[in-house]
Amino acid sequence: MSDLLLKNVRLPTGETADIRVLGGRIEAMGPELAGPDGMPRLDGRGRLVLPGGVDMHVHFRTPGAEHKETLLTGARAAVKGGVTTCADMPNTSPPTTTVARLEDKIARAADAPARLLFNFGTEPGNLAEVREAAKFDCVRAIKIYLGPSTGVGGLAGEAVEAHFRQAAELDLPVMVHAEDVDLITRNALALPHEMRNHGEIRSLEAELSAVKHALDLAGRYPVRLYLAHVTSARVLDLAEASGFRERIFVEACPHHLILSTRDVAGPLENRFKVNPPLRPPEEQAALFAALETRIDGLGSDHAPHTLEEKQAPYDEAPSGLPGVEYLLPLALTWWRQGKIGPLRLLELTSANAARWFGLNGGALAPGRDADLVLVDPDREWTAGEGGDRIASKCGWSPYAGMALVGRPEVAVVAGMVVHQHLD
Ligand code: NCD
Ligand code: ZN
Repeated sequence: MSDLLLKNVRLPTGETADIRVLGGRIEAMGPELAGPDGMPRLDGRGRLVLPGGVDMHVHFRTPGAEHKETLLTGARAAVKGGVTTCADMPNTSPPTTTVARLEDKIARAADAPARLLFNFGTEPGNLAEVREAAKFDCVRAIKIYLGPSTGVGGLAGEAVEAHFRQAAELDLPVMVHAEDVDLITRNALALPHEMRNHGEIRSLEAELSAVKHALDLAGRYPVRLYLAHVTSARVLDLAEASGFRERIFVEACPHHLILSTRDVAGPLENRFKVNPPLRPPEEQAALFAALETRIDGLGSDHAPHTLEEKQAPYDEAPSGLPGVEYLLPLALTWWRQGKIGPLRLLELTSANAARWFGLNGGALAPGRDADLVLVDPDREWTAGEGGDRIASKCGWSPYAGMALVGRPEVAVVAGMVVHQHLD
């Protein structure tokens, strides 16, 4: 929690202003602000200031797979890309399904440069642990895997229902990974296990079936439902037909928005193995077309695995793509290319998630957390090239080589400058 006098930044409204931060929160915004002697200062050099990005869906791998990423390296990658709040998923090893393990994660996150939240894991027998975990400020949701994925078997039957029932009582949002295990199993028995069939094995039908299941449960137990990584506009149709769209948060990931099965072909194909899978180009284009009006927020589903692990045969190669450090740069690029409006940029990258999860960031106003990012909106650069070093410990990115417009250059968390690359 710091004090900071941020001089000479451009607000989203277009005005040039200073921002004064006291005790980690924005205290004043306006022209020619002064601060007491000794107050840390930063000249923003006219850069655009935005609320820091909020990514409610990252897998930072502490504990158990620290060779891929840690809470520290993941948070570094996040702030480098302008994401100042990340919510870590519970499918670590061991999974975050007890308060003791949550406390262990919190302790290990002490030096992380981003604000970290922890989505709590669900098991058949851990309802009481969830109740205790819900008291922690850093726990804003539970995660339910309706099907198996990397490091998790998935939850089924009465256990799912029990967690929905309790989450409704606690008013604790439920995040779901929606893929139907029975349909996946059926497809996996019928099709050769090859990367080119990944999208057929984990079919859109399997996703839609699990989404329907989640919506049915949310209809019976009035939870706030977070649909993670939707891959198709058809999921949006289902959410809109539910009759309770206002208590649903629809997350889309950059990889489903701009990559498709077209990118899966070729020698590097297991790199693009991810759950749920990349869809055909028509599906991807329809999802992107929904970005302006029908999607609530972006999440990266940052799921780092090493390239060595990805080189294994299809069945052994782990699913997941790293992405937290290019989430905001990609969204900035879509804005600069006129594909989304300026207000949408803010809603998708911070404001909507902050409001939905009751975070005090996600807006530039006195009293709000001073979680900020300074952006050069005109900067043209290439992901992973020309001085851009990939920060994620896994060392690669599915977006490497992509042309970007708009570069995050400074990140501030609770008034502390945690990343700086002004040149
Ligand atoms: C995730 C991972 O690697 O942790 N992988 C993925 O493909 N999305 C697990 C998950 O959330 O499914
Ligand atoms: Zn995930």
